[in-house]
Amino acid sequence: MTHEEAIQHLQDWSQAFTGKNQHPPAICFLTFGCQMNFNDAELIAGLMNQVGFRKIDHVEEADFIVINTCAVRESAENRVYGQLGRLKILKESKPELLIAIGGCMVQQPQVAEKIQKSYRQVDLVFGTHTIDQFAELLWQTMQQRKMVCDITEDNLIPTEGLPRLRSQNLICSVSITYGCNNFCSYCIVPYVRGRERSRESQHIIDEIKQLVADGCKEVTLLGQNVNSYGKGLQPAVDFADLLARVDGIEGLQRIRFMTSHPRDITEKLVDTIADSRRVCHQLHLPMQSGSSPILRAMNRGYSKEYYLGLVQLVRVKIPDIVFSTDIIVGFPGETEADFENTLDIVRQVRFDSAYTFIYSQRSGTPAAAMPDQIPYAIKQQRIMRLMEIQADISNQINQQQLGQIVEVLVEGPSKHDASMFTGRTRGNKLVHFAAEPNQIGQLLSVKIEAASSFHISGTVAGKA
Ligand code: SAH
Ligand code: SF4
Ligand code: F3S
Repeated sequence: MTHEEAIQHLQDWSQAFTGKNQHPPAICFLTFGCQMNFNDAELIAGLMNQVGFRKIDHVEEADFIVINTCAVRESAENRVYGQLGRLKILKESKPELLIAIGGCMVQQPQVAEKIQKSYRQVDLVFGTHTIDQFAELLWQTMQQRKMVCDITEDNLIPTEGLPRLRSQNLICSVSITYGCNNFCSYCIVPYVRGRERSRESQHIIDEIKQLVADGCKEVTLLGQNVNSYGKGLQPAVDFADLLARVDGIEGLQRIRFMTSHPRDITEKLVDTIADSRRVCHQLHLPMQSGSSPILRAMNRGYSKEYYLGLVQLVRVKIPDIVFSTDIIVGFPGETEADFENTLDIVRQVRFDSAYTFIYSQRSGTPAAAMPDQIPYAIKQQRIMRLMEIQADISNQINQQQLGQIVEVLVEGPSKHDASMFTGRTRGNKLVHFAAEPNQIGQLLSVKIEAASSFHISGTVAGKA
């Protein structure tokens, strides 16, 4: 069956459904994990929209539920099993309901097997390499009575130019690379997302130009390690070249990117950011640990001194740079002295914010088989100590903003307080302020009047 035939079948099916039920079939997404999954969900949403499904937000009213799973930590996987339990009850009251599960967790063969054996409420299991074949797989699922499972790996780039249903037009993310070749010893991503591959620059530029034409003001270039963008492409291009080209797109206001591997940041890249017009002076630079022996065991390819030197270099060239980071505590063999080194680097660098994680054993990764796994109580204690120190630093940095005027891109009403709006500064800090709905999408100057560890708030002083 070709892709076009599958699309035709699905269109006919949804027309018949609409005729019978007086409403189009409803699809609901449950998306876990990172932007890679949100990107996949938007592609599937685009396809399903094309064949006549209507996207909704409540699982209870759905005819089709698509779950995109994350495997990066055990807690992420447990959440998915919890959801599957809930959906089993829903399906008992609604036997026609279709459930598809994809993403990183089911790309692990042992998980796909477990779902096939023990989670009979699922109709379709699809991997991270099969987004392109989603229409074919879904039609096959609708035709046959037993569960369909396809987690084959092709390590290709999803077909360019497919329809896509974005959750918003103002702030968009654009994948530039897929997969990862780094094999950090704790990490499951290279196993479930395949080998690193880069999209052609022209495809990326064309996509962003189209987004800008549709109202996009801020774009985030995405990849597990954007700094290695371009390997294998002809003619030769690197991430700094790509960034400079994106910087030239008229109408775009802000450019961000993530994630940067410290080992692969070049001086050329730092200069490109410094010389750019639109690239935000903000760098998410996952450090993972401040201990050189632990960094070696993690296979990160840099030492504590290298990381500190890099931060220094960037600060000299871009004085107003805002740093954020990822840190893992309790990696196998991490001693109190190793952990003290992590606290030391946190105090020295003074990150604006840090995402802190308790090490989670991922089966199949080298670290999972290492001796000296750290007891949970110690990991818990360490993360609490780390979070307290970081919260204090974030608070001090935010307090320094009091009285300053910052540029904010207005995103929309605050989730917690309907009378307030939210937006982000160029440094990616969340700001609350009073505004009007017609100011969404505008760049405003906001005078900062209150600050805490996690957000700042102020009053609009005019247009930026
Ligand atoms: N490619 C990105 C990050 C991808 S995963 C990078 O290299 O920075 C996001 C974060 O999850 C990682 O930075 C790491 O801090 C954390 N992480 C990955 N595997 C983990 C594990 N097994 N246990 C705990 N945290 C983990
Ligand atoms: Fe995982 Fe390391 Fe790749 Fe990031 S760079 S996705 S942490 S293997
Ligand atoms: Fe999770 Fe996969 Fe992203 S494991 S963090 S959803 S690449």
